[in-house]
Amino acid sequence: MGKKRVFITREIPESGLHSLREECDVKVNPHARNLSQQELMEMSKGAAGLICLLSDKIDREFIESHPELKVIANYAVGYNNIDVQAATENNVKVANGPGVLTEATADLTWSLLLAAARRIVESDNYVRQGKFSGWGPKLLRGHSVYGKTIGIIGFGHIGQAVGKRARGFGMNILYNKRNPLSAKQESELGAEFREIPNLLQEADFITINAPLNDGTYSLLGKAEFELMKKTAVLVNTGRGKIIKEEELVAALQKKEIAAAGLDVYENEPAITPELLKLDNVVLTPHTGSSTYQARSELAELAAKNILAGLKGEEMPSSLN
Ligand code: DGY
Repeated sequence: MGKKRVFITREIPESGLHSLREECDVKVNPHARNLSQQELMEMSKGAAGLICLLSDKIDREFIESHPELKVIANYAVGYNNIDVQAATENNVKVANGPGVLTEATADLTWSLLLAAARRIVESDNYVRQGKFSGWGPKLLRGHSVYGKTIGIIGFGHIGQAVGKRARGFGMNILYNKRNPLSAKQESELGAEFREIPNLLQEADFITINAPLNDGTYSLLGKAEFELMKKTAVLVNTGRGKIIKEEELVAALQKKEIAAAGLDVYENEPAITPELLKLDNVVLTPHTGSSTYQARSELAELAAKNILAGLKGEEMPSSLN
């Protein structure tokens, strides 16, 4: 019997490809760009295994038009791009990539927090543009971080990793999560639960580390920005659709909040054009997990999930 076919929608690090190639007939999107939905539909025909990106829409139509498909491994921890219910109904196994991205994403959350608070991008531009003519008492003042209050929305692995870093900054840690932690867990993590409105009112720094679901979709808009402190810094490394982007732009323009650091966008890769004109926002291109280590480990995990799923064995991070 021939090797089973696996399609990968974008070239991933070699660490994952290697083991897959030994056992499967692996085809990789040959383009140095993401596929259109039509290309995705066509190029994955006949594949028993699929490694896809968070930007690939794996909906019911896709699943039902690929009857040979047995296993999907999302090259991401978030899996809001996959209709897991439709996959389950069609006997297709689905896996994501938990764990391996946690620390890298927490690091980027903190990079954005510090960069937005201390105006790093503006400062860099200022120096490059030859404007630095000497030390100034009021030059590019930002917001102090040490000892302040952080409010973490989404307190799973990544949110908790953000919280651990906050302890090093002597911060008071508030969190919101669909199912609050036990008192014991809270005391171990040094974090206190708050309902969203209270968290927004009390926190100096707000980070979004939640997945996109019915409870987080459009969670933050005009009314919520009005609750935040005028000095608040908001960071989103979760999913763009958690924030109403145009309403965030208005809040930043009117200085209702001080600054934002964004790695994800409501309609990415499209970005609300006004965001690009603002000085008080730091933007990264959804690179929260983009370290050599994390992306290699994610590739290995995706490969392990595919191989186990195709052999009918238990998958390391099965979702159904
Ligand atoms: C994920 O894995 O969900 C991240 O957004 C990718 O960096």
